[in-house]
Amino acid sequence: MKSTSIRMKPLIAANWKMNKSIKEADSFIKEFNKFCDSNTADIVICPPFTIMPSLSGMIKGTGIKLGSQNMHFEERGAFTGEISPLMVRELNCEYVIIGHSERRQYFKEDDALINKKVKSALNHGLKPILCVGETLEQRQSKSAMKVIKNQIAGCLNNVDKYEMKNIVIAYEPVWAIGTGKNATPEQAQEVHAYIKKLLSEIYSDSIASKVRIIYGGSVKPENAKELLSMKDIYGALVGGASLDAKSFAAICNSV
Ligand code: 13P
Repeated sequence: MKSTSIRMKPLIAANWKMNKSIKEADSFIKEFNKFCDSNTADIVICPPFTIMPSLSGMIKGTGIKLGSQNMHFEERGAFTGEISPLMVRELNCEYVIIGHSERRQYFKEDDALINKKVKSALNHGLKPILCVGETLEQRQSKSAMKVIKNQIAGCLNNVDKYEMKNIVIAYEPVWAIGTGKNATPEQAQEVHAYIKKLLSEIYSDSIASKVRIIYGGSVKPENAKELLSMKDIYGALVGGASLDAKSFAAICNSV
């Protein structure tokens, strides 16, 4: 059982990364709707930008919400290749993934930049799914908790306490992403409890209890139920297994 008396609605988000055409997204949604019978979770799909306008139409009336995989913190300007919060809002986008480890690793995003994006997303009525997580090396050298503490402090710097209910934090250990090797439920729970403790220290117990902390890293139908039954795990951010409608539906159904 979850610790709060009123259980927060879990959030299951699909991160399609750089995958799928518009046609493939259309088949996905049709198949997903056949298999998904969950009405207990918030379901979000974060497709590539090129699919967002079409997907926005495809999911109308299904209850599925739209998320963006990234955004710039500015509204407009000379930022070739970037997308602004106003642009994604125009497509009825509700969530935005910020600070994914692939953005940190390949595009050199750091906590200061991620902090600007988090604040901009909130200012534009978007709900950030803020990603944190340690590398294998950091876990092996026992510095995982320190890394996460620094990421949380840096990325949430000067984020108003009243905004925290609109933030989702995704714990995604880098070593578990795309490797097929998920964190065990106990490993994930330990970090989720730690993030909750950090939020209690920065804000308050009451605020910490309102933030959904979700897990990402090789979530599949076979391990979802066990991970999602842990005390402080309030959902999942799913990569590979979210590309298949049946698998993603099975994960959503396991909440
Ligand atoms: P996988 O589920 O493929 O490990 O990816 C996780 C992830 O990066 C979600 O954002």
